[in-house]
Amino acid sequence: MGYKRRIGHWTADILAAGLRLGKQKTYRFFLDALWERYQVSYGDGPPLEAHLWCPDPIRPDAADRPLVERIFSAYRQAKQTQGQVDRLYQPSSMWKNILRTAYQDVTESLQANDIERFHSFLTNFGSWHQPTGIEESRLIRQCAIDRHKALHFEQKIMTPLIRWWLKFESDGRDLSALVMPNHGNFGGMSVNGHLISPGSVFTDVYARMIAGFLETDRPLIAELGGGFGRLVYFLSRHQSDFRYIGFDLPETLCCASYFLMKTFPEKRFLLYGEREWDVTCLDDFDFLLLPSFEISKLPDQCVDLFINENSLGELEAAACEHYVREICRTTKAFWHRNHECRRFLFERGTTSLLNREYPIPQDRFVRVVRYADLRPYVRSDYLECRSDMFWYYYRLRK
Ligand SMILES: C[S@@+](CC[C@H](N)C(=O)[O-])C[C@H]1O[C@@H](n2cnc3c(N)ncnc32)[C@H](O)[C@@H]1O
Repeated sequence: MGYKRRIGHWTADILAAGLRLGKQKTYRFFLDALWERYQVSYGDGPPLEAHLWCPDPIRPDAADRPLVERIFSAYRQAKQTQGQVDRLYQPSSMWKNILRTAYQDVTESLQANDIERFHSFLTNFGSWHQPTGIEESRLIRQCAIDRHKALHFEQKIMTPLIRWWLKFESDGRDLSALVMPNHGNFGGMSVNGHLISPGSVFTDVYARMIAGFLETDRPLIAELGGGFGRLVYFLSRHQSDFRYIGFDLPETLCCASYFLMKTFPEKRFLLYGEREWDVTCLDDFDFLLLPSFEISKLPDQCVDLFINENSLGELEAAACEHYVREICRTTKAFWHRNHECRRFLFERGTTSLLNREYPIPQDRFVRVVRYADLRPYVRSDYLECRSDMFWYYYRLRK
């Protein structure tokens, strides 16, 4: 072993001398590239057959039409009202850009009353050719056209994540526990025949943790900016009975409505504009999916747990403050995962808020946990400080 060490150190010295000239980013790039060329064995277990999956668009299913008509009608009504509500509820310049580029089929189908085009978008939003901000199609598409990126994705991102999950988080479950219903035509990684999207591994981890914070039999869970509903889907695998209110921008809410209504055909859904709503509706419905300006109609302390993942930290400061106040007014407990030190800069020089700046009233809420999002460390093999996501759990003081 002694001579192997010495040769290893000499080789590393020579490589490092050259790579240091390229500074830290280049250095890291070469280290990653070396790892990608090695079949790494993270922990024990049988080999993983992992392949990138980047699907072609699929045709909408005519049987979905009644459901899609409901979503289209709710979207139309949400857009009409959104035009009349306070600026605080409008998307930031960053999200306006995403909506303009990725959600063009949604916005234009409404103007043209073209439900076919709308339906086609919903059928394929999970592998959309423009980044929708709510799933990983951009990453998958980039990997699909570059063999090295695909290798990086397989060897450095997905394999370690899945090995880690199998060893520490699976708790006897097999890989099917990481598979989502494919309503949206998602890309990802086929692992031993299971289609797994990069976000699913840690969403399962957080869902398990969040389920552990729930103390009642049929809790009311509310979420702001839930994307297409991944977190609540994984939560349902750990907590079978709950009621859910999702607040979001009208466009992303269409994706959530499609994914969740197709995933839970046995559950009762109320969409915006289908009837006047208040929390008593939750005796008759399991899911309320509403544009975010409706949050002000929630009564005080009616929610058992409010969740927010990677969304408050993307809002303009005034909007974030407003939503956090509404969340603290309406909930008994609050879990969120957002940015610790990375600030977004918007048009007109406004910025987003960092976790420590959220106006959470300390006289009413106690911070129970603050913890780093482990995802980047699990998948990169080294401590890296580029990712600044932390999760927090607060509950009302007794
Ligand atoms: C980065 S995505 C995160 C989605 C999901 N929570 C996840 O972690 O995968 C940000 C979410 O915030 C929502 N969002 C962005 N701007 C918003 C606004 N002004 N009001 C309400 N929701 C907003 C988006 O529609 C989207 O669902």
